[in-house]
Amino acid sequence: MTAEETNLTELGHDEHGAVAVDEHGHGHGAVEVAGDPFTDPGLEPHAPRVTDIDEKAAKKAERQVALLFLLSAACTIAFMVAYTEIPKTAIVDFFPIGAVSASNFALGTLLGVALFSLGAGAIYWARTLMTDVEFPQERHPLASDPQTRAEAIAEFQQGVEDSGIKRRPLIRRTLLLSLTVLPLPALWILRDLGPLPENTLRHTAWKAGERIINDNTVSLDGTTGQGVKPEDVTIGSLVSARPQAALSAGEDFNDLIAKSAVLLVRMDPADIKSQQERDWGYQGIVAFSKICTHVGCPVALYEQQTHHMLCPCHQSTFDLSEDGKVIFGPAARSLPQLPITVDADGYLVAQRDFDAPVGPSFWERG
Ligand code: FES
Repeated sequence: MTAEETNLTELGHDEHGAVAVDEHGHGHGAVEVAGDPFTDPGLEPHAPRVTDIDEKAAKKAERQVALLFLLSAACTIAFMVAYTEIPKTAIVDFFPIGAVSASNFALGTLLGVALFSLGAGAIYWARTLMTDVEFPQERHPLASDPQTRAEAIAEFQQGVEDSGIKRRPLIRRTLLLSLTVLPLPALWILRDLGPLPENTLRHTAWKAGERIINDNTVSLDGTTGQGVKPEDVTIGSLVSARPQAALSAGEDFNDLIAKSAVLLVRMDPADIKSQQERDWGYQGIVAFSKICTHVGCPVALYEQQTHHMLCPCHQSTFDLSEDGKVIFGPAARSLPQLPITVDADGYLVAQRDFDAPVGPSFWERG
């Protein structure tokens, strides 16, 4: 036996290669395995920290940990206050990001600081005040031995007998009822995620007589813009457009344009393959949703010769000469077509809303 082996045996090493422990129960982590050609390096010897030997330093560390936990609690409470008090529309200018929602900024920052200081406090506590002696723990079977299991079952059955739950069906049923409804509040509070969309995803701002506004003529503040006349759309050209309602949508603009953006193209009526498309267009001008039916990117890459419209995100390609049919890519539905005509002043207007929901197919089922 080597000197090291002798030492381990003195400290509690057994014949199965178990861990050596000193008189304080601290493991040294040197594990002997018979026939192992590599020497187990074991664990570093324990060196006391300043907080182990200096009570003043330990008290100081304790206060620092407490301060971090207090900071975490304060930020969590401030998070709840910010959630209810900061208006949704408030904006803050934050360098270097720029203008951001004050509510999002406050909630993100406060929750981040709360979680960070809680974690930092726990780590600092562990590193300075908790014991830092490492010791390996032997694995042991997870299952209890048969006798313990039999005793547990017997005790459970005795408990059932003592409770009288079998003899008192009224208590049993009301208990089951109360346990059944107990998880429901967790579902109920999901209502707070906002009102259900109901059928709002099926409709856009387009309606009969809604004038089509050329995006290129819209003022910087988005409140004025010019309608499109048929003569403005030449064969082969592509016009990005929006409904007139978008000019006065205010803070609902993003919701509105996300569903109502359209593209106008003009092609030789002889190139249009479908009678329905001809009826829904005007003298070869047809309007299609600009929102890809795959996952909603704006489609805007138009090939004049083939009348193909390409989505730059995942290359879905739609044939605008045949009802916006998908001819390539992952989109599962045709681009919805907006039926158009002209009003008394000669401007292009919608005949009605889209007949199919716009955007990703998920919306179709919304
Ligand atoms: Fe258009 Fe994916 S979003 S192809």
